[in-house]
Amino acid sequence: MSAGLTVLKLGGSVITTKERALAPRLPTIKRLAKEISKANISPLILVHGGGSFGHPLAKRYKIKEGYRCKASQLLGFAETHEAMVSLDKLIVDALINEKIPAVAVSPSSFVMTKSGRIHSFPEEPLTKLLSMGFVPVLFGDAVFDLDRGFTILSGDQLITHLALRFKAERIIVGVDVDGLCTSNPKMNKEAKLLTHITLKELPTVLQQISEAKTTDVTGGMPSKVREIVPAVENGISVFLVNAAKPNRLYKALRKEPVKGTYIVKG
Ligand SMILES: Nc1ncnc2c1ncn2[C@@H]1O[C@H](COP(=O)(O)OP(=O)(O)OP(=O)(O)O)[C@@H](O)[C@H]1O
Ligand SMILES: [Mg+2]
Repeated sequence: MSAGLTVLKLGGSVITTKERALAPRLPTIKRLAKEISKANISPLILVHGGGSFGHPLAKRYKIKEGYRCKASQLLGFAETHEAMVSLDKLIVDALINEKIPAVAVSPSSFVMTKSGRIHSFPEEPLTKLLSMGFVPVLFGDAVFDLDRGFTILSGDQLITHLALRFKAERIIVGVDVDGLCTSNPKMNKEAKLLTHITLKELPTVLQQISEAKTTDVTGGMPSKVREIVPAVENGISVFLVNAAKPNRLYKALRKEPVKGTYIVKG
């Protein structure tokens, strides 16, 4: 299937168990690689989150807040990045196993942030990879920051940047819930799925869904939605889908009707 660029995020909530440290969901990773392969989408950029690989370490060493001249933090940065690289290897291996030409592109090696926001992002390597038919695989990472020394760059910030920079047609975000709900569906049984949201409706929705507590150093669902606003403003459609349920991601990639949340400009 050849169309506009798709930027796909596989949430850390899907590919890892967030309850335990460094716990990948290997059967899920394998299944998702199969679904991506079967969907046969090109061009495609993949980004994955940190889940129980990135967040706990980043939190322990306060990586997001920046370098406080503590030697232990340097080791913490190295450990956080290394954990993400090892999770990334599981994803890339699974994709290659399904004959997808996936190439790991580590954000800390080429992206610089300034106070936590992407500042420089040389695009030549990715442009080349895409034009040759590779599937670049990026991830939320510990990166170097002009003001803070280092910080955490979330997969959610990355997807919007990539989608805008490479003029994507759409963003698909795989999470472990059915989509964006009126409140956290894991905490509240009354939570209702929002299937279609326009840019105009987003501020009200964002007010509704503010999350009190999260283990996610990059802010969980409210931050995810806030991060994708610039993409939606530029006409890029965003679809949140439950990638923990078999075939949902496949259908989303194929543009077949499937349960989830569409966020569109209007
Ligand atoms: N209003 C809401 N609607 C849907 N999910 C919500 C809402 N509020 C909170 N959540 C929670 O957000 C979680 C998904 O965000 P989270 O940041 O934990 O995962 P992720 O982004 O996939 O992981 P990572 O950041 O590691 O990539 C869901 O598991 C759900 O419990
Ligand atoms: Mg998250």
